[in-house]
Amino acid sequence: MRRNKDRVLVVAVICLVSLLSLRAGLSAQNAPPSQTTKHMVPDNPSEHTPPTQPIPYSHKKHLSFGLECKNCHTNPEPGKLMTFPATSKCMECHVTIAKDTPSIQKLAEYAKSKQPIPWVRVYTVLPGVAWNHRAHLQAGVKCETCHGQVSQMDSMSEVTSVTTMYSCLNCHELNHAKTACDTCHKH
Ligand code: HEC
Ligand code: HEC
Ligand code: HEC
Ligand code: HEC
Ligand code: HEC
Repeated sequence: MRRNKDRVLVVAVICLVSLLSLRAGLSAQNAPPSQTTKHMVPDNPSEHTPPTQPIPYSHKKHLSFGLECKNCHTNPEPGKLMTFPATSKCMECHVTIAKDTPSIQKLAEYAKSKQPIPWVRVYTVLPGVAWNHRAHLQAGVKCETCHGQVSQMDSMSEVTSVTTMYSCLNCHELNHAKTACDTCHKH
């Protein structure tokens, strides 16, 4: 049965990924504790229904296999973006896993057409404001501090207020990072 074959594959994927994360976990234990307190960004007080995405991708489901953020989101030069994964990344598993479901057939069509999947953006900073991920990752700020408990999200929505000036400034003050206007507003 196809379903059974899928299940075997799912189990195989889980085993492989848990082995990898076990190794990562062991080396993480030797890492020194973080020196600075990074402030949790306040929740988004306004309505934040998840946008309808072209494919119903679930972070909760995929992270439960032990995949890590960096498997799909990288931070290439000059460090501003975290980028979205290439469709070929998804197809590493989905050439076989759940390949007969409507959403994976749609995924396969995107892969075949070589067009990137038009994901609807969730977090966006006002154009013109100086922003980059790298300065924050280098300062040891965790993804979850700004984007919430991603591993619990079936669909991604703007759960925090990180894109507001108040949240930027508040965390900068608490961490003694720069707060002069021209840190974020260049002329
Ligand atoms: C298997 C690949 C994969 C993994 C692993 C993954 N993501 Fe994603 N992520 C995506 C895809 C695809 C989207 C676009 C669809 C969506 O918004 O759900 C996305 C969207 C996002 C967004 C919304 C970006 C925006 O503004 O539109 C954030 C934030 C995010 N991911 C954070 C994370 C974090 C944090 C982790 C690790 C805890 C993670 N992701 C792990 C594939 C992945
Ligand atoms: C490491 C392997 C792996 C990668 C990489 C991966 N997936 Fe999955 N995905 C799975 C597994 C396992 C399931 C669960 C299948 C099941 O429940 O039968 C799944 C389920 C899904 C489903 C639900 C399918 C359905 O209708 O039942 C969607 C949609 C999906 N993935 C999209 C994506 C997208 C988009 C990407 C790339 C951003 C991606 N996946 C990357 C392993 C992976
Ligand atoms: C200090 C807060 C902060 C941290 C830490 C952070 N992000 Fe973001 N992220 C943002 C903001 C703000 C945006 C919107 C940026 C824009 O509009 O250009 C964003 C956008 C994104 C996007 C959309 C693509 C892009 O780069 O614009 C993804 C994907 C994402 N973040 C994933 C992650 C992942 C994965 C991590 C951890 C490795 C992470 N973020 C850490 C604040 C943060
Ligand atoms: C959770 C805490 C946190 C949040 C939220 C945050 N930042 Fe930061 N930011 C930091 C820290 C810590 C640094 C690094 C300070 C250092 O290295 O001296 C930093 C550095 C920066 C820098 C580099 C400054 C330099 O040294 O030139 C810029 C630009 C910046 N942030 C813009 C933003 C913007 C724009 C936002 C909101 C969209 C934001 N930050 C949200 C903590 C935060
Ligand atoms: C740490 C980054 C950061 C610092 C420092 C900062 N801002 Fe902002 N500012 C932002 C962000 C992000 C927005 C966009 C907010 C939004 O979209 O809700 C913004 C928006 C604004 C806006 C309205 C948006 C517009 O351009 O129409 C004004 C005016 C403004 N800032 C002035 C200032 C002044 C004056 C200072 C110095 C006292 C300052 N900002 C310091 C990040 C910052």
